[in-house]
Amino acid sequence: MLIEPLGDFLYTFYSPTGVHRRTCYQEKKFKGEKQWKKEKGFGSNFGFLMAAVGSAVGLGNIWGFPNKMGASGGFTFLIIYLILAVICGFIVMLGELAIGRKTGKGAIAAYHAISKKFKWVGWLGVASAFLIMSFYCALGGYCIKYVVLNVGNLFGAGFGSNGLSGGDVFGAFLTNQGEGVIYGLIFVVLTMLIVMGGVSGGIEKFCGIGMPALFVMLLICIIRACTLPGAVNGLKYMFVPGWAVANGVIAKAPSIFEVISTAGGQMFFSLSIGMGVMITYGSYLDKKEHLEKNAVLIIVMDTLVALMAGLCVMPARFALDPDGNIGGPKLLFITMQNVFHSMDGAIGPIFGIIFYLLVVLAAVSSSISLLETVVAHFVDKAREEGKGDRRKKYSFIASILIALLCVLVCVDGLGSNGIAPWELLKLDGYKGWSDCWLDFFDMISEGVFMPLGGLLMTLMIGWEIGPEMVKDECEATEGHKMSSYPFFKVCCKYITPLCMLLILYGQLKSFFG
Ligand code: TRP
Repeated sequence: MLIEPLGDFLYTFYSPTGVHRRTCYQEKKFKGEKQWKKEKGFGSNFGFLMAAVGSAVGLGNIWGFPNKMGASGGFTFLIIYLILAVICGFIVMLGELAIGRKTGKGAIAAYHAISKKFKWVGWLGVASAFLIMSFYCALGGYCIKYVVLNVGNLFGAGFGSNGLSGGDVFGAFLTNQGEGVIYGLIFVVLTMLIVMGGVSGGIEKFCGIGMPALFVMLLICIIRACTLPGAVNGLKYMFVPGWAVANGVIAKAPSIFEVISTAGGQMFFSLSIGMGVMITYGSYLDKKEHLEKNAVLIIVMDTLVALMAGLCVMPARFALDPDGNIGGPKLLFITMQNVFHSMDGAIGPIFGIIFYLLVVLAAVSSSISLLETVVAHFVDKAREEGKGDRRKKYSFIASILIALLCVLVCVDGLGSNGIAPWELLKLDGYKGWSDCWLDFFDMISEGVFMPLGGLLMTLMIGWEIGPEMVKDECEATEGHKMSSYPFFKVCCKYITPLCMLLILYGQLKSFFG
């Protein structure tokens, strides 16, 4: 619950363990009597879970996972992905949640409180959050634009596709810089308003309704996609090992090392780990909630939604736009729009609206967790200095800075408008990470900062403060025994750091190699 401003008396109380830092009381003298109001973190475990799943489920689940799975060996990829999710994803996720709940602080302060050698790792996370937000908001804005576009198509209005193909619509939009900026900023404002509402009043409320709604809309789209004639090829592409190569969708099968590296990169990006988001959310979680159970549930649900997204986009693409792009922004904004164009009558626009709305939900629930990671630090500080909460003020300032970067990404229009990094930096046609600002920010965050953050976190838990910390924190829940502790300990010390090192290497190679 958000506290109404009650005047001059705002106190933050620390329990001896620092555990209930998030429980902040407001004291007001009323007729000589003290009155207390309390602000908590998440109101329920369901709310927490939806927020954390909302953070994990994002654009990566929709345009990354299905395509990577198909191109990297179908079921084989899925199995490798799941193994990595267990030995790496689960460990980092649980570690982050435990650090957050134990310290009761956001990413930056949590690392400060808990470690001597790794004090600064929280900053790495906040920097990644900033960079990811810059392009996440731009892309989220594009999704809003596509909802509007499909509304236009439904009513035959001028702001619809006007008979243009998906590719032409997207091309025209990317070069229309003003429009791109407006939609990007709408998305930033949306994110800001939710975060301003506070943890339980904004984030939890939004995700508690938004995530179930996303799930239902996705089911509706899956039913439509899987019943299209020719849909079965999409399923074969996604699940049958070797089908993609045998049918000429990709030229050459990737090596096993490439498959592992693709799965690892996708896994840690998709789970939103390695940058302190789960530390921040964990800090708002009540002591009575099971950390292990929550970590498993987040991973299972994220993977489930990624598979479901595949059941929606792949059959649709193979049935209705068999030559269309099969991954990345072009899948989302060109291929899928072609799919909706080729459905008869009002059905196309209606499914278009449902589909892009669900993508907007996925994007917003991720971007609020990113903004919260940045804002939490400053809110913490203000509270500690006894200045009250100042959430609205800091959300506003952070959003302005993010909006500046977002405008750059929108004006760049995925490299369409002659201001891509390689053009400005005179890299003479060098493409890859420098072909647009989105890829440039993605390279720094997803390519370097995040895997590095995950690696350093496991090293810190495994070798500096010891895995017992996580055990103690899990068992702080009354009557709970951490059954995965022996596994956690071995992974955290040896296996996970090695995996993270490999993932880091794979990411660097995919960007620079
Ligand atoms: N998990 C998001 C996706 O699949 C992307 C992401 C990575 C993210 N790190 C994050 C989202 C941190 C929110 C917070 O698209």
